[in-house]
Amino acid sequence: MSSSAALMRMMKPEEVHESFLFELKGFSAGGALPKEAVELWHREAPELCIGYYEDDRLVARICGTQSSEARYTNSCIYSHEPQGTMVGIHSLVVEQDRRGKGIGTALLKRYLQLIEENLNKVNRVTLVCRERVILYYENRGFQSKGLAEVKVADGTPLFEMECSILRSGNSLF
Ligand SMILES: CC(C)(COP(=O)(O)OP(=O)(O)OC[C@H]1O[C@@H](n2cnc3c(N)ncnc32)[C@H](O)[C@@H]1OP(=O)(O)O)[C@@H](O)C(=O)NCCC(=O)NCCS
Repeated sequence: MSSSAALMRMMKPEEVHESFLFELKGFSAGGALPKEAVELWHREAPELCIGYYEDDRLVARICGTQSSEARYTNSCIYSHEPQGTMVGIHSLVVEQDRRGKGIGTALLKRYLQLIEENLNKVNRVTLVCRERVILYYENRGFQSKGLAEVKVADGTPLFEMECSILRSGNSLF
């Protein structure tokens, strides 16, 4: 279970470097996205950069931007289109020693709620992930769309996952 002193909120501009450090901690060399991308997410779409704090300490964070693309592409990573109908989640990372305690699930659930409540144009959320995390997202309301268009430097195949935003009050969890 997550800590009772936990708080989820929009990250502040001054936390962008820490957010980049989470990127490095979460993904091995070749998998981490560059600092320029992380800076763009925080600058252009701060409402889609949400942190999970325990006693004021950042222990997890999720970042995304809006896009008008039909699929998750490289251009989604480096842009934010406020009129876009899709949110691309670029990165969800939980600090290593806090994994397996429900934090990633809680943060993802809150993220989808925030989108449903505040971004009326958005009708779906997509992301790409490695094969080992497909089941994690399937168990949390996402469906696999098969091999992704985007690739990481080491050539590991990535899979595109998609979740519809339902505004009828249906619970995904
Ligand atoms: C994937 C990740 C976000 C999960 O967050 P979490 O807080 O550990 O997940 P939760 O505690 O909510 O749920 C535990 C689930 O994660 C799975 N899991 C994946 N990697 C895990 C890890 N290293 N430690 C513990 N659980 C892990 C467990 O099998 C469990 O799955 P299940 O409930 O479907 O059986 C986290 O492990 C992480 O930051 N990994 C590195 C970055 C990454 O791969 N991000 C996802 C791609 S964008």
